[in-house]
Amino acid sequence: MRTLLLLSSLVLAAAAQAAGDPKLGKALHDKQCAACHVRLVGGDGSKLYTRTPRLIKDRAALAQRVTMCVAQTGTKWFPEEEEHVTAYLAQQFYKFK
Ligand code: HEC
Repeated sequence: MRTLLLLSSLVLAAAAQAAGDPKLGKALHDKQCAACHVRLVGGDGSKLYTRTPRLIKDRAALAQRVTMCVAQTGTKWFPEEEEHVTAYLAQQFYKFK
């Protein structure tokens, strides 16, 4: 029984991680991503995420775009870090249905 409980909490923790943590994502985003987007569109850079027409139509496309942009930062990111930032952008700006 104990083992089962432990196992299920591990599975839950893994699932939570796969979904990403928007709070961690915001911190990473503001530190590593915003400056370059500000140079592109001004303001706080977030106009890039809300422009029309929408180029990013679902979460998979967003995750892919994040990976591409991470490459531009020249920093090595862990997949979890990309997930956090994807989660942040999805929650704050893209709000996919
Ligand atoms: C060296 C500059 C640069 C850096 C650093 C950068 N980006 Fe970008 N980003 C761009 C450019 C250029 C575009 C594309 C603009 C266009 O298509 O008009 C873009 C577009 C995007 C888009 C798509 C916006 C949309 O809805 O069309 C997302 C999402 C994004 N970046 C996320 C990130 C994230 C997350 C990071 C940090 C890991 C990051 N970017 C760092 C230059 C950068």
